[in-house]
Amino acid sequence: ARTVGRGGDGAATVAGLAVTDLAEEFGTPAYILDEDDFRARCRAWSDAFSGADVFYAGKAFLSRAVVRWLREEGLNLDVCSGTELAVALDAGMPAERIAFHGNNKTAEEIERAVEAGVGRIVLDSFQEIARVAHAAQRAGVRQRVQIRVTVGVEAHTHEFIATAHEDQKFGLALQGGQAAEAVRRVLNLPSLELAGIHSHIGSQIFDMAGFEVSARRVVGLLRDIRDEHGVELPEIDLGGGLGIAYTSEDDPCEPHEIAKSLAEIVTRECAAADLTVPRLSVEPGRAIVGPTAFTLYTVGTVKELPGLRTYVSVDGGMSDNIRTALYDADYSVALVSRTSNAEPMLTRVVGKHCESGDIVVRDAYLPADLAPGDLIAVPATGAYCRAMASNYNHALRPPVVAVRDGEARVIVRRETEDDLLRLDVG
Ligand code: LLP
Repeated sequence: ARTVGRGGDGAATVAGLAVTDLAEEFGTPAYILDEDDFRARCRAWSDAFSGADVFYAGKAFLSRAVVRWLREEGLNLDVCSGTELAVALDAGMPAERIAFHGNNKTAEEIERAVEAGVGRIVLDSFQEIARVAHAAQRAGVRQRVQIRVTVGVEAHTHEFIATAHEDQKFGLALQGGQAAEAVRRVLNLPSLELAGIHSHIGSQIFDMAGFEVSARRVVGLLRDIRDEHGVELPEIDLGGGLGIAYTSEDDPCEPHEIAKSLAEIVTRECAAADLTVPRLSVEPGRAIVGPTAFTLYTVGTVKELPGLRTYVSVDGGMSDNIRTALYDADYSVALVSRTSNAEPMLTRVVGKHCESGDIVVRDAYLPADLAPGDLIAVPATGAYCRAMASNYNHALRPPVVAVRDGEARVIVRRETEDDLLRLDVG
C-alpha cells in the first residue's frame, strides 16, 4: 500500500483511514487493499508496455472488483480455471481480453472458454491441442491459441538456473522437439489459429537474465517455424514472475525497466533471426497486486521463551498466509495500532493453527511492550495469500477490504460459520 501514514494518536493510516477503525469495523484478520495503489500499478505496467499487452495473472488474487479495476485500467486477464473464467466474465471482462491457462483444463472448461470467445487459449499438451481443436470445431469458430513451451530455464528469486528444468509438468519442451511437433499439429488444425509462443520461467524473479535466455529460445523457435512452415507467428508471451519487495532486502525492478529490457532482448533476437518483431505480452500477478495489500492481525498472546525469543500469536496464520510455511517466504511486520518507544525484541509471529510450522513471520523485531490487543500488520500480502487461503482448523477465511480516499468497502466478505456448515451436508 502506498498511502500509508500515521495519525495523531499514533495509529497507522491507509488511504486516510486509521487501522484501528478498520479493525473495529471489519474485524481481524483482514486483508486491507489499497485500490489506488492497485490502479497505479496497473497503469505503470500498461504505460511501460505500450505497444505490448499486459495480462494480469488472476491466480495471484481475483475478485469481481479486481476484474472491474483491470477493465477500467485497460489491462487484460490471465485465468487458469473455469471458475476464474466465470468470475472474469461475470464481472464484465470482455472475453477477447482473457487468456486461458492451465496444464489440465477439463473438456468442460475448454468448451466454456471457446464458447465465451476467449481471446487466447494457451495450449499445454498434445491431448489439449486435440481437445481445443475439437471444441472449436463444434462451436464453429477458429480459436486463437498460443503454445506454452518449456525453454529449459527456471528462475526463482535471486538464482537463475539454465539447465535441465524440463522435468516439470508445464508446457512442451523445446529440447527434443516436442514444441516443434506441437506447432506442426496446431498448424494442421483448421479450427485453431496459432497466434504465438508462450514461456513462463518462474516467480519472484529479480534478475532479467532468465528472461533473456527465455526470449532468445522463443525467438529461435519462431525462426525455426518460419524456416519450416513459412509463417511468422505474430505474438510471444514471456509470462509473469517479476519479484516484489517482501522485506527491505528485496530490490525489485520497475515495470518500465522490465519493459525496456524485454523489448530490447526481443528486438535484438528478432533482428538476428531476420524476423519481424512480434507483439509481446507479459503476465504479472504478484508485481501488480502483491504490494497493494497488508494483513491486519490482532495479537492474542505474547509468550517469552527465555534466552530464545518471544512468540507472538495472532488471530490468523497459515490459513490466511501459507507462503511462509510452504516456501519459507520472508515477511516483515509492524505494530500499527500505536507507536512505542520500547526496546525492540526478537519475535516470531505465529498463527493459531495446530502445528508448529504455522509461522507468519519467522524473525521479526517488535517493541518489547507488545501486548494482547495490539494490532500488527504484515505488508505485501496482496498476492497468493487470500488466493491460497484455506479453512484449516475450520478457520473462516478473512475478508478483503478495499480502501480508497477515506472510504473502505468489503470486496470479499469474511466467511461465516454458516458458510462452512452449509457445505457440511452429512
Ligand atoms: N503466468 C503464468 C503462466 C504463471 O504460471 C504464473 C504464476 C504467472 C503468469 C504469474 O506469476 P507472478 O507474476 O505472479 O509471479 N503461489 C506461488 C506463486 C505461484 C505462481 C504460479 N504461476 C507464490 O505464492 O509464490
